[in-house]
Amino acid sequence: MNFDTLIKNGRIITAVDCYYADIAIKAGRIVALGHELGAATEVIDAEGLWVLPGGIDAHCHLDQPLGDGAVMADGFYSGTRSAACGGTTTVMPFAAQQKGQSLRAAVDDYHRRSDGQAFIDYAFHMIVCDPTETVLKEELPALIKEGYTSFKIYMTYDDLKLNDREILNVLALARREGAMVMVHAENADCIAYLTELLTESGNTGPYYHGVAHSSIGEREASHRAISLAELVDVPVLIVHVSGTETIEQIRWAQNRGLRVYGETCPQYLMLTAKDLDRDGFEGAKYVCSPPPRDPAAQEAVWQGLESGVFQVFSSDHAPFRFEDDKGKKLHGEHAHFEHIPNGIPGLETRLPILFSEGVVKERIDVTRFVALTATNPAKIYGLYPRKGTIAIGSDADLTLWDPTAKSTIRNAELHHAVDYTPYEGLELTGRPMLTLCRGRVVSRAGKPESEAGYGEFLKCDKPRPARPRGNAKGF
Ligand code: URP
Ligand code: ZN
Ligand code: ZN
Repeated sequence: MNFDTLIKNGRIITAVDCYYADIAIKAGRIVALGHELGAATEVIDAEGLWVLPGGIDAHCHLDQPLGDGAVMADGFYSGTRSAACGGTTTVMPFAAQQKGQSLRAAVDDYHRRSDGQAFIDYAFHMIVCDPTETVLKEELPALIKEGYTSFKIYMTYDDLKLNDREILNVLALARREGAMVMVHAENADCIAYLTELLTESGNTGPYYHGVAHSSIGEREASHRAISLAELVDVPVLIVHVSGTETIEQIRWAQNRGLRVYGETCPQYLMLTAKDLDRDGFEGAKYVCSPPPRDPAAQEAVWQGLESGVFQVFSSDHAPFRFEDDKGKKLHGEHAHFEHIPNGIPGLETRLPILFSEGVVKERIDVTRFVALTATNPAKIYGLYPRKGTIAIGSDADLTLWDPTAKSTIRNAELHHAVDYTPYEGLELTGRPMLTLCRGRVVSRAGKPESEAGYGEFLKCDKPRPARPRGNAKGF
């Protein structure tokens, strides 16, 4: 057979193995692994490089319509271009329902926003904020069957949050239909109470966002979400976990045999509340929910990554420009913290940061890096084995890393449309040198090489990890 591409001499790394072999690619798929495989139209010499599955960023926000006048800086064009340059080959942003809107309309609208825009492949999660009878009985079952097999629910934000009864209803629906539920776990009333106290005492700068979004409130909501999921007997995934208390809840649930999964993000490894306390309005750049906490929390997150409490490492890229009256300065540079758009950018820096700080500094093994950033998200969201691994028959989504290359993060060199990165000046070791999505080079040495429209929409299977344990009473 004449292959399209042959990647020779690389060190292949999956979630379980490291070995030397060549990879043969035909029509966008891996068709052979071995030695002396034959001829190919193009040969890539990967001598000295590590060949990993392309990253899957299973939690990012692109061109998401927002009710408050803020506008996301990145849509599918700049967002997926940026992701590709950081070694990612699939993104999973959110088709977000607005209150009163049909979920189908939200999904259709998101297709219009993404069609022809993406540099790399993409699938949709949904955000369910208005679980009406029509949504629960008709729309969600139909959409799940059509390949939208995961959705996020919120326990906070006035325009998004569900009450406990609504959460039980959507969990029961997920159990019946086989969908994965992602939970933004923060206690809305704790935030409102603390916000009122802080406002009364005149403490309204960006730093106090972190005080209002307490780790106690995050812990309580996580525990409640886990308990509700246990009652219904359905798996659940707690997203963007910020530190010790919530990790304890997830570990407790896992130790009891519950199918509770956890996700964390670079901001909880690299930032702390001190960043929110930077001079003037600078702290607004670091406002996200849950907020970054303290060095002890960072250490707990590292331990959670190492010990397996976390299955998924995502960016939670939520892009708002700083110098922009539709971004962080939506309400000016003296805005009360509760009016600062929540979220920070990170699509392009997610993998290099975890590689450098985690793998190179020997906090996590490189096979765990692959599991957290590609294989587990593919399994948990129904894309495996098409995505997330290096195997015969899988898409040829590959990132070739130079494990010794040095670089420094500079926003001027990133490809998102945000005017800052929270990681400016961070020195890294290890760099994606070449990224292929379905066999085609999409970035080389941090520069884009594909084109908008190459990326394909992916339908997700019903994920095996979303299956209940089957021991609930009364169903
Ligand atoms: O602050 C954050 N995380 N913004 C993005 C939306 C979300 O809740 O993930
Ligand atoms: Zn969230
Ligand atoms: Zn998010």
